[in-house]
Amino acid sequence: MASEVLVIEGLKTYYFTLKGIVRAVDGVSLKLRRGEVLGLAGESGSGKSTIAWSILGLVPPPGRIVSGSIVVDGMEVTRMSESELRRKLRWKKVSMIFQGAMNALTPVYTVGRQIEEVLRVHAGISGYEARKRVYELLESVGLHKTIADRYPHELSGGQKQRVVIAMALALEPDIVIADEPTTALDVVVQAQILNLLKRLQREKGLSIILITHDLGVIAELADTVAIMYAGKIVEYGSSEDIYKNPKHPYTQALLKAIPRLRGPVDKLAYIPGQPPDLRNPPQGCRFHPRCPLAFERCRMNEPPLFNLGDGHLSACWLNEGEA
Ligand SMILES: Nc1ncnc2c1ncn2[C@@H]1O[C@H](COP(=O)(O)OP(=O)(O)O)[C@@H](O)[C@H]1O
Ligand code: SF4
Ligand SMILES: [Mg+2]
Repeated sequence: MASEVLVIEGLKTYYFTLKGIVRAVDGVSLKLRRGEVLGLAGESGSGKSTIAWSILGLVPPPGRIVSGSIVVDGMEVTRMSESELRRKLRWKKVSMIFQGAMNALTPVYTVGRQIEEVLRVHAGISGYEARKRVYELLESVGLHKTIADRYPHELSGGQKQRVVIAMALALEPDIVIADEPTTALDVVVQAQILNLLKRLQREKGLSIILITHDLGVIAELADTVAIMYAGKIVEYGSSEDIYKNPKHPYTQALLKAIPRLRGPVDKLAYIPGQPPDLRNPPQGCRFHPRCPLAFERCRMNEPPLFNLGDGHLSACWLNEGEA
């Protein structure tokens, strides 16, 4: 369908380490529609960033895409050479706000110069035209153009994150992947950055993949949510499905773990146990060692993603009857 800007099918991305094969992304399928915000949520280590790196052809060694397909705007990314990825994909079609990027801005250059550098290297734009574009970009992320002459250390965390977002927008991509874009920021600034992303999505028709370990962060922003556990998507659906009618015990546990901002202070629930070692994940349902509802079958057989209607998917044997 033309409305889909990204289609991932059966993606497997593994890290071939000396201590074994880390099955970081193990058979993931996803679609992103034009103008959609897709929230990708799950505990740390579940494979979220690896999906993002796979989309951009940037999986770090010893990792590589083992199988599956990633199609962006009709192009099969998994078969593109490094030079094609540079010329046709990165920055122009898909750009990424890396986890911690705001703290990786070069301290010795002004932010204006750093944004100009993106324009020069990836689009050959320089001089007056680049300067003008830098001012436009800064204004589009809610910063005054005089920020261009400042150094990163002169800016607040929120301002630095806006600069990083401006860079991601520099070449007008269709898709922006934001990996934990608010993690290092306080709650008020978090909300401002999320509002900015929402505004950019509306005004520019951007499609956004918003990656987070905190389901609370994407509640108001995401149209669709994919929940990852141990390299797999275990639940997928509209925001409404996920927040109001979660079907997978892992999603239910994640939602209980969100600190309550309003109302009486709840005891913060947490999910006992650790995510599995992805070199040797548990047999059957990967969540079974931590699942309060696990039964015999869960230890033996892996549940498929059951379709519960209206695109709501859940990989739990308890949902089999509803599918
Ligand atoms: N460069 C790497 N080498 C080996 N293993 C890695 C590397 N990067 C990530 N991993 C492993 O892959 C799994 C998924 O990691 P990641 O995609 O970063 O998860 P998330 O973004 O959800 O925290 C983890 O088990 C992690 O330890
Ligand atoms: S399949 Fe079994 S172990 Fe897995 S989430 Fe469902 S009930 Fe829990
Ligand atoms: Mg990550």
